[in-house]
Amino acid sequence: MRMVDIITSKRNGNELTDEEISFFVRGYTKGEIPDYQVSALMMAIYFRGMNERETLTLTTEMENSGDRLDLSAIKGIKVDKHSTGGVGDKTSLALTPIVAACGIPIAKMSGRGLGHTGGTIDKLESFDGFNVSISTEEFINNVNNIGISIMGQTADLAPADKKLYALRDVTGTVENMSLIASSIMSKKLAAGADAIVLDVKTGSGAFMKTLEDSKALAEEMVRIGKGAGRKCIAIISDMDQPLGSAVGNAIEVREAIDTLTGKGPEDFTELVMTLASYMIMLGGKASNADEARKMAEDAVKSGDALNKLAAFVGAQGGDSDQVYHPEKLKVSEKSIAVKAEKSGYVERIICDEVGVACMMLGGGRASKEDEIDLSVGIKLMKKRGDHVEAGEDLAIVYYNADKDPDEALKKLSGAYVISGNAPAKQDLIKMIIE
Ligand code: URA
Repeated sequence: MRMVDIITSKRNGNELTDEEISFFVRGYTKGEIPDYQVSALMMAIYFRGMNERETLTLTTEMENSGDRLDLSAIKGIKVDKHSTGGVGDKTSLALTPIVAACGIPIAKMSGRGLGHTGGTIDKLESFDGFNVSISTEEFINNVNNIGISIMGQTADLAPADKKLYALRDVTGTVENMSLIASSIMSKKLAAGADAIVLDVKTGSGAFMKTLEDSKALAEEMVRIGKGAGRKCIAIISDMDQPLGSAVGNAIEVREAIDTLTGKGPEDFTELVMTLASYMIMLGGKASNADEARKMAEDAVKSGDALNKLAAFVGAQGGDSDQVYHPEKLKVSEKSIAVKAEKSGYVERIICDEVGVACMMLGGGRASKEDEIDLSVGIKLMKKRGDHVEAGEDLAIVYYNADKDPDEALKKLSGAYVISGNAPAKQDLIKMIIE
């Protein structure tokens, strides 16, 4: 088999055979096929697309290209969750303790973030002493003993995807439905869960800007999940404005804890409860979404979910006292407000601009080597639809002296679009794909 023939075939709009897909994935992972040929193939796929069979084969090849996490030593149905990402997305921090408190084992491997803020692993390091680099044995023991563990990616999961995604990132070939779906699902499948709940974002701050594209991506991922023999559901949720009020790292952890004590922002709480309901259902602990939601709400009301977070943080060396006293999590003392220049309604908050402002403060990383300042962040005081008077606070920026906050303030001010009329209300949960 020759790589040039595979490229030509896809360029001409043909279906690739399973053998051809296997050939290029294995050859590229081993370093036997050069970047320039795989770049050409990615571009051909970008324009010509792949059908369901090709997409599933690509996913399976990438899933099997490295280690697979064996969770068989954990009792019960293991349910994982994945979000396609956005601004202020701290969902895992509140969601996983709720679901674990309802008896679903949570064994989650998470990555560090590239972008506006850190990833879940970075955010968890806001707890003093928290250790994300535990052994797989400790990880499994913690899940069996406490019901939850989250660790940084140690195993070499889906290395083919790692190489391909990095290549796509610099060759303009990320935004293809089949390539995105197979990339995400290969990692999730290799991470070993029996069931997966996908939180697919839609809107200006999401990968997929339109509901139509988000739906197509969600359907593709659910098809792959089911094709691979896992239970899989996708929830399409709004990312046309940041989620909740906090954007950053420690500040997002504080908001997640507030949510576990019933004092979280309305939109974030709604998303967490919806995702929790479906995870509990897929985990076999409830027969319908209403019953599952009631269980999730009870776990918050009783304090079980908060206690679960404290046990989890403590078991991984973190200061569990900070769970009960989130004010002890280090958020920068220096702060400055962004004021409204005119009165009116918040018509839009441009997600990406808020994210970039957070990065400018040092809250996110542009490359893997960058250090994150976990203490900086942004608190949005007004959200879409809120009325605001000229001179009122739109947002508060928390910063440290090593970064001048002026540029971030300007970005944030530009992110708010104020108009004379209240915008139409938008649903947070757009669609559920089962
Ligand atoms: N996230 C991934 O992991 N892969 C993609 O292709 C896009 C987003």
